[in-house]
Amino acid sequence: MRIFSGIQPTGRKHLGNYIGAVEQYVAGQQRGDGIYCIVDLHAITVPYDPAQLRRDVYDLAAVLLAAGIEPQRSILLRQSDVAEHTELQWLLMSSTAYGELTRMTQFKDKSAQHEFISAGLFGYPVLMAADILLYRTDQVPVGDDQRQHVELTRDVAQRFNARFGEVLVIPEGYYPPVGARIMDLQNPERKMSTTGGSPQGTVYVTDEPDVIIKKFRTAVTDSGREIRHHRDKPGVSNLLEILAAVRSSSVQELEREFDGVGYGDFKLAVGEAVAGYLAPVRERYAQLRADEPALERELERGAQRARGIASETMRAVREAMGVGRRAG
Ligand code: AMP
Ligand code: TRP
Repeated sequence: MRIFSGIQPTGRKHLGNYIGAVEQYVAGQQRGDGIYCIVDLHAITVPYDPAQLRRDVYDLAAVLLAAGIEPQRSILLRQSDVAEHTELQWLLMSSTAYGELTRMTQFKDKSAQHEFISAGLFGYPVLMAADILLYRTDQVPVGDDQRQHVELTRDVAQRFNARFGEVLVIPEGYYPPVGARIMDLQNPERKMSTTGGSPQGTVYVTDEPDVIIKKFRTAVTDSGREIRHHRDKPGVSNLLEILAAVRSSSVQELEREFDGVGYGDFKLAVGEAVAGYLAPVRERYAQLRADEPALERELERGAQRARGIASETMRAVREAMGVGRRAG
């Protein structure tokens, strides 16, 4: 089984990215052949700084390797190193309906945040479809916020196959049972996010342990006293999900364990668990990040392996679409 996912090199990665996505990539290595892509071409669809983008790619490569992505077993690549991603995006544009793209909620959210709305931002979901379809992907581990994009990918692939023949593999989304949507600690009605969130409510993978504990101590809960997962208790529910994810236990077990415990002690316990969980990642990250040439070599090796698969898919797609000279 082939597993593929993409992650944007934008700023520091937070606990939501880590639990909802990165942990799933690492776990995916047990189930199948993983390809993990740092999607710098997605990051350029909103205003950005070119020098910063390069640094962000290395930051993210170091986080992914520190988390446990094994470059011997999986492929780790930078999207812009494999030109087939953009070529396939263009070819898939003709199998994508304009109206579908206008309905993408991430496009609507992001275009509300910026004055200049690039055409690239509009075509973003088609580039994501190309990323996935290029590698004949079976399964796509992502957080809940990417469901709509994965569904679009399936629709585009089905439409392509109906028009041009069974060339593309139809992928399935894979959403983690807990932690697919980690919320901001200060505002548990909103998802944790680098752009939309509050600084005190966003826990970064590279935060120092005492900073992490402080963020959890000041987390917003509610005026009740029960530690229970419930729709009316978004703050407490979020903390339970976070603890369940980092301890690999279930929310029900934790409800029993913390029955009768006060909110203050509970928040401290979650903070300490998260700090302990991220500490080894932060240490490995610091070592890996210090050697940029080594990171660059890993990415180049990943790109070379990826190109082998990508070029075969492109040959079939071009042939089916009647683009370029006839193969063979
Ligand atoms: P991005 O940083 O936008 O490229 O997102 C990388 C991955 O993290 C995607 O699979 C997202 O679905 C996932 N993700 C982002 N925010 C959260 C969150 N608050 N909770 C869980 N997963 C998330
Ligand atoms: N759009 C995804 C996000 O914001 C990132 C992404 C790009 C992706 N290409 C992908 C995710 C392919 C999964 C598969 O998180």
